[in-house]
Amino acid sequence: MPSAEDALVVVTDAIAWTRTAKYRALPETAVPGTTTSERRALAALGALVAEVIDPSSVADADVPEDIVGWLRPHARIQPDSRVLNELADRLRAVLAVNGPIDALAAIYEGIIAGPNRRHLGTFFTPPHVVQHMLTLCHSELPTIPNHVIDPGAGVGAFTLAAPAIWPESDIHAIDINVVTLGMLLARPSTIRRSGNQIHHELDDFLRWLTTSAVELTGPRLFLGNPPYTRVHDMSPALRASAFEASGDLVANRLAGLSTHFTAAILRSLRPEDSTCLLIPGNWSYTKYGSELRAWLWTQGRRHVRLSYFPVETEVFPGTRVTAMILYVGPERGVEQPFTIERLRYTPDSVSVGSEQVVPRTGPAPGRFDSIALGRATIPPNGGNVALVKLGELVTTRRGTATGANHFFFVDDTTAERLGRHHFVPGITRATHVDGNTLTNAKHAALADAGHPAWLLHLTEKPDEGDPIAAYIAEGESHGLQHRYLTKDRQNWWDVEKVAAPDLLFTPFSRDRYRFIVNLAKAVPSNNLYGMTLKRGCSWTAKQLAEYLSSDAGRSALRGVARQYQGGSFKLEPREMLDALVPVVPPSL
Ligand SMILES: C[S@@+](CC[C@H](N)C(=O)[O-])C[C@H]1O[C@@H](n2cnc3c(N)ncnc32)[C@H](O)[C@@H]1O
Repeated sequence: MPSAEDALVVVTDAIAWTRTAKYRALPETAVPGTTTSERRALAALGALVAEVIDPSSVADADVPEDIVGWLRPHARIQPDSRVLNELADRLRAVLAVNGPIDALAAIYEGIIAGPNRRHLGTFFTPPHVVQHMLTLCHSELPTIPNHVIDPGAGVGAFTLAAPAIWPESDIHAIDINVVTLGMLLARPSTIRRSGNQIHHELDDFLRWLTTSAVELTGPRLFLGNPPYTRVHDMSPALRASAFEASGDLVANRLAGLSTHFTAAILRSLRPEDSTCLLIPGNWSYTKYGSELRAWLWTQGRRHVRLSYFPVETEVFPGTRVTAMILYVGPERGVEQPFTIERLRYTPDSVSVGSEQVVPRTGPAPGRFDSIALGRATIPPNGGNVALVKLGELVTTRRGTATGANHFFFVDDTTAERLGRHHFVPGITRATHVDGNTLTNAKHAALADAGHPAWLLHLTEKPDEGDPIAAYIAEGESHGLQHRYLTKDRQNWWDVEKVAAPDLLFTPFSRDRYRFIVNLAKAVPSNNLYGMTLKRGCSWTAKQLAEYLSSDAGRSALRGVARQYQGGSFKLEPREMLDALVPVVPPSL
C-alpha cells in the first residue's frame, strides 16, 4: 500500500511529467488567470487523468463535453506511452488508498502558481475541516437532504466526502474550471462504491443557482468552500453578475466573490434548505457584510451558527484572511438559536472551543466576530463613563500617497542641495521616532541621522535654473511620471497637499498601537496614519495618545480592527472611528 511519502513522490513525478510533455495549451477561458505554460501542463494532466480513470466512468457519468475534450488533449509530440502508463498506475494506486495527501489537489497546486490560482479562488479544503463541517450538518439537520450542492467543487473535497454521510442524496459538483472538475473523474472507485448520483456541472455557480438548481425538489444542502476571489481579481462582467445574484443582500462594491456566493445562496434558500460554508470572516464585521448580518439576525426560525477559526491559523494559505464556517439550518416550527463559537484548530483536527448563544433582540450587532473573540472587553474607565464614538472627536486618514516615496521624501543633504523652501517636514516610519512625541528637535535629529525627513512640496513648475527642476527631470528619466498614482496628476510631481495631523500612528499591531504626538507637524507617508482633533474636541493630542495606548484604549481599538493571519490587528481609518471612548479624558 503506498505511503504518504510514496504519494509525495508520485505528485512530484506527475508535476514534472506534465511540465515536460508536449501538449497544446488549453484555451485561457478553460482556466482563467493561468499562464500559457501552465495551461500546457494542464493539458498534459488531462492525458494523465485519462490514463488513470476507468473509461466506463466517463460513459456512465453525465460528464460535460469540455471535460471529455480535456481528457483527449492534442499532443504536439506523442508521449512515451510506457512512462505515461507507469505514472498513471502509480497515481491510481495512491488515489485508491485515499491517504492523508490529496494527490490531485497537490498536483494542481504544483502546476499553477499560487497567485494565478487567486483568479478562480482555488484553495482546497483540508480533509479534517471537511469532516468537521459534515459532522456539524449531520448532527444539526432534521432530515436527509435530497440534494447536496457543492458550489465551486474543485477536486471534490466535499463532493467525495458527502456520500459517506448521506448515501442516498444526489450530489451536484459545480465548478467553472474544466481541470479541477475533470480531476474528480480520476476517483472512479468512490463514485462506483456509493449509491449516489454525482452530477458534474461545468458552469458558473451563480448562473446554475438560478437555473438548474430551481428544478431540484426536496431539501437542498449547499455545502462547500466558495471561491475566495478578491474584488480586484473579478472581471467587470463577473462583478455585475455577482451583484445581480446577491440582490439586496450585498450593496457595497468592495465585497469579494465568496460574499456574493454566500448572499446568493442565502437568498435562494427555501424553507427546507440549509447551508454550511467555509468562507473568509470579513463579511461578519465589515460594511459590505451589513445586509448579510441583518438578514441572518432576522431568520429567527433558522439555526444560525458562526464558527471562527483561531486568527493565527492558515485555513486559506497565503491569503492573510481569517476563516470561518457559516451554518444556516432549515426553518423550524419554533425559534432557533443564534450561536457564535470559537474553534480549536490543529493541522489534523478541528473542535469547538467556546460557544455562546446570542439572543436575537434589537438590531443586528455591528460585528459578529467580537462576540466570539471576546474583544473590546475592558470597559473604558471601569464602565461608568459616558462614551462617544472616536469619530466624534477626531478625523483620521492615511498619510500622503506620493506614488514614489524614495523620490518625494528626501534626506537632509538632498533637501539642502535642492533648496529647503521646496520641502516640508515629513516622516516615513514610526521607528524613526524615539518615544511618543515628535518634537522639532527629534525631527532634526532623525533628519541628521540620514532618514528621509523632508517631503517635496511644490505647487508651481520650478524655473529652469532651479536645482529642483533638474531633480524632476531626473525623476522623469526613471519613468516616475508614468506610475500608477503620478500619471493621473496634472503635474506628476504635485503631490496631494496633506495637512500635518496632530497624532501619527501605525495601523498594524499585534498588541498595542503606537501613537505619536506630532509637535513637529511632519506629514506622514502612506504607511503611517494621521489623526486630527476636531474643533472643540475635549481631549488634547497628548491625552488621546496616552488613552489609546492604554489597556482600555487598546481594547476599544481591537473591537474595530481587522484581524489578520498571524495574530495582528489592523486599523482602517474609517472603521476605527466607531471605537467607543470616554466623552472627556479619564484621569489616567
Ligand atoms: C476555494 S476553491 C474550493 C474547492 C473545493 N470545493 C475544496 O473545498 O477543496 C473554489 C472553487 O470555486 C471555483 N469557482 C470559481 N469561480 C466559480 C464560479 N463562478 N462558479 C463555479 N465555480 C467557481 C474554482 O474553480 C475553485 O475550484
